[in-house]
Amino acid sequence: MISLNPILLLLISVFLFIFFLFKFVTAYGDFTLMSKKQPKREEIEDKVVWITGASRGIGEILAKQLASLGAKLIISARNEDDLIRVRTQLKGKHAPDGVKVLPLDLSSGEDSLRQAVEKAESFFPDSGVDYMIHNAAHERPKTSVLDVTEEGLKATFDVNVLGDNNSDKALGTFHVEEGGEVILW
Ligand SMILES: NC(=O)c1ccc[n+]([C@@H]2O[C@H](COP(=O)([O-])OP(=O)(O)OC[C@H]3O[C@@H](n4cnc5c(N)ncnc54)[C@H](OP(=O)(O)O)[C@@H]3O)[C@@H](O)[C@H]2O)c1
Repeated sequence: MISLNPILLLLISVFLFIFFLFKFVTAYGDFTLMSKKQPKREEIEDKVVWITGASRGIGEILAKQLASLGAKLIISARNEDDLIRVRTQLKGKHAPDGVKVLPLDLSSGEDSLRQAVEKAESFFPDSGVDYMIHNAAHERPKTSVLDVTEEGLKATFDVNVLGDNNSDKALGTFHVEEGGEVILW
């Protein structure tokens, strides 16, 4: 039987502890995401990716990264001028010229979102939409629970829950009507 020197064991443990502490302190994302490593270009290139909330923040960064990996992008938010600004900054195989700007308001109801979905699907008729990233959100001001208003909560629900659900439903219905299938989760 192999017996490990206790001092060596202690040194290895201390080394591992310091190593993981360093990784934890310098991590730029959570460990689950980091373990996925870099996105693979072959999984993204030429795929149609629709990003909501792409006019600023995380959505804008996502648009930049996906464009650089060769995705065909559809970018959405309410403010068209901001979307156009983002489009001019995108660089990639299909960007900026191939990037489609699709302004929409996620709280605008089922009919309006169904029209937006039909438009999105028509941009790239050969493939339709391959991936949809529900990144847009209505951010309530950070307040104490005592100061949360009913109006603020309703606005959050309309965008973050109903908006995503209505566009998923419209996407699903569209694919089924076209004879295809869609997996929603
Ligand atoms: N930043 C963080 O630390 C953090 C942490 C955890 C999770 N998240 C989540 O990550 C996502 C992006 O965060 P972020 O910080 O980048 O957000 P953000 O800067 O506030 O951007 C929100 C985006 O959503 C769009 N949007 C808002 N209301 C909309 C509506 N009714 N219809 C369509 N688009 C709408 C905004 O554009 P318009 O105003 O032009 O519509 C904007 O493009 C959100 O879902 C957020 O909850 C963020």
